[in-house]
Amino acid sequence: MDTPPLPFSARLRAATQGAHTAAEGQQYVTALVAGELDLAGYLDLVVQHHALYQALESAAEVMRADPVAGGFVDDALTRLPALEADLTALAGPDWALRTAPNPATVAYAERIRAVAGTSPVRFVAHHYTRYLGDLSGGLHIGRAVARRYGLTGQSGAAFYTFARIDRPKAYKEAYRARLDALALSPADEAALLDEVLVAYRHNTAVFAALARHVPAGPVLPEAVA
Ligand code: HEM
Repeated sequence: MDTPPLPFSARLRAATQGAHTAAEGQQYVTALVAGELDLAGYLDLVVQHHALYQALESAAEVMRADPVAGGFVDDALTRLPALEADLTALAGPDWALRTAPNPATVAYAERIRAVAGTSPVRFVAHHYTRYLGDLSGGLHIGRAVARRYGLTGQSGAAFYTFARIDRPKAYKEAYRARLDALALSPADEAALLDEVLVAYRHNTAVFAALARHVPAGPVLPEAVA
């Protein structure tokens, strides 16, 4: 008897595992999780996230009524207000005057804006890459950030708290079931998968641009306070 084909979400995960490993293994990510960056190094990530989620969440508003992408848009995921609170806590109320996204983030945001207007499945790819990542490794990063900088949801790490998602694992399972229920054509499946790889490449490029914050040698935690 033939074994039934794997669901799309499982094939997507398998096909992007290498790209995930590359993003996860970036020097900046490793140093952030290990507590090796000073606060300015963490703040720079928040600045990049802000520009990126501004693009993603304004695209989500446009896609809310779309028959394919609309089912993924969920206010419980929205990160922009949390990022604005984090920037205010970390850089002061005039943060917008004193911070700017780097060119890698600008390119990533431009890509999101471009595909949101032209391809619902490619928008879903960006949505999936960020939010499922935030609900997975993101939670791990959030715990490391809280530990290293003593930050809470009120003082600069609100991004990592999903107040309306009690069970991230169940949420991710439901999200994957929604991906499978799309029953996409082979061409749309291929486009979604291709765009997830594009999204991972953008994330990796953003981390590479942030690597300038990584100290050159081993640094004792007290020395980077
Ligand atoms: C410290 C860094 C990271 C760690 C430790 C990490 C860890 C993980 C783990 C354990 C999972 C599996 C979760 C599950 O099956 O429920 C996962 C899934 C995922 N991660 Fe990461 N991750 C990291 C960084 C990233 C980055 C930078 C991205 C991209 C922006 C990302 C995107 C994703 C996505 C999209 C999934 C869902 C895969 C799927 O099940 O379809 N992760 N991550």
